[in-house]
Amino acid sequence: MAKEKEDSSLKQIIAVCKRRGFVYPGSEIYGGLSNTFDYGPYGIEVLNNLKRLWWEYFVHRREDVVGIDSSLMLNPTVWQASGHVSNFSDPLIDCKSCKTRLRVDQFLDEKMGANFSVGKSLAEMQEALHKEKFPCPNCGSLDSFTEARQFNLMFKTSYGASEKESFDVYLRPETAQGIFINFKNVYTTCRQKIPFGIAQIGKSFRNEIMARQFVFRTREFEQMEMEFFCEPGTQKEWFKTWVDYCMMWLTDILGIQKNNLKLRDHAKEELSFYSEATSDIEYKFPFGWGELWGIASRTDYDLSQHEKFSGQDLKYIDQTNNKKYIPYVIEPALGLNRLFLAIISDAYEEEKLEDGEMRTVLRFAPRVAPIKIAVFPLMKKDGLGEKAKEIYHNLMQHWNAEYDEGGAIGKRYRRQDEIGTPFCVTVDYDTLQDNTVTIRERDSMKQERIFISQLKTYFMDKIV
Ligand code: GAP
Repeated sequence: MAKEKEDSSLKQIIAVCKRRGFVYPGSEIYGGLSNTFDYGPYGIEVLNNLKRLWWEYFVHRREDVVGIDSSLMLNPTVWQASGHVSNFSDPLIDCKSCKTRLRVDQFLDEKMGANFSVGKSLAEMQEALHKEKFPCPNCGSLDSFTEARQFNLMFKTSYGASEKESFDVYLRPETAQGIFINFKNVYTTCRQKIPFGIAQIGKSFRNEIMARQFVFRTREFEQMEMEFFCEPGTQKEWFKTWVDYCMMWLTDILGIQKNNLKLRDHAKEELSFYSEATSDIEYKFPFGWGELWGIASRTDYDLSQHEKFSGQDLKYIDQTNNKKYIPYVIEPALGLNRLFLAIISDAYEEEKLEDGEMRTVLRFAPRVAPIKIAVFPLMKKDGLGEKAKEIYHNLMQHWNAEYDEGGAIGKRYRRQDEIGTPFCVTVDYDTLQDNTVTIRERDSMKQERIFISQLKTYFMDKIV
């Protein structure tokens, strides 16, 4: 088969997401709310599959990891202890003419070359701006930027119903701190012994200066984070273990192509203040390589800070040798929505068929695909519709399936290709005679004929 892998640009991916009910612009009927997105019926299925697979491989299949679900709003002191109040900010400038707001570090990296801003202070970035006199990318004004300043990314809201008693809290900018503040609860109630991890999935909020690139960087997003607590001195080994495990999950379980993934170690001057080593798993997004998964060796920073600010003893006691210490932490932190973008970019293909026609196909691994099986009657009439419905109702007890009886069969196949459905089952006149159906496989488009009684075993084998 003649096949042409076309450049899967972000525009095409956004279009298929909208057209096929994966992702819609947020608040669309009111003119939208910039950089917010709503996930449609197929999008939510993919997100749920990704969350389920993450939980399965990072919690259920690990004897050394348990899960929690902490509050989204935490005592404000948590964010002082963690350093977010003083350090969780990005440097910004505004254009005095058109009021466009820019992240100085990203702007300079674009103009001066990747990583120009790494390790540079606010004053150094300011100096570079003054020297180069770049025009505003929006209105073209020269030398019209305000002084660079830090902008804290946490969203503030008022907690409490009465004005007198209410106070400011932050929407969490990461799920990690909810884990740290529950470390003692978990280790004392769940018989966990170090080394062990605590995992959490949930929403985080960051008032990003330049939210952009579809769902890559948004102000509301979901994270899947795990804090793995280990004995000081063992962190290097655990760091490597978790980097390898995360990479294995992306390639072997989700089926992401290896050549679209790479590991990037952070240079010393790039490390966050709490980290002694960080590696990013990067994905080759349609707009270039970008961070997908950050894996950090966070030392004992967070627990030490929470011990200091809360006044509680957060040390771990090793009963076997009576050692008492604050554990070190390895943190694989993944953004669900960014993973969604990687998965859909990886799956997206425009294929030229033998007859010269083009088809858009999402080559999801069956375990990630939103719909696993579509069932069609060749025609609605002559009892074919009833038979197809019967098969559909049986299959839907085991897999997320869809029934479609509208339009030409070729068009129905194309629609399922664009949704990424790995298998279509067609009921025709022969079915009524011999109880066989046609199964059509999405990627090869090959068709085979099997008995209805074999369908369950057939799919059990193929959809895991
Ligand atoms: N607890 C550590 C932490 O949150 P991070 O590198 O700031 O580390 C982890 O975030 C992951 O969360 C990133 O690798 C990315 O996948 C995702 N993420 C971060 N900010 C995001 C945003 N504004 N929109 C979408 N995903 C984001």
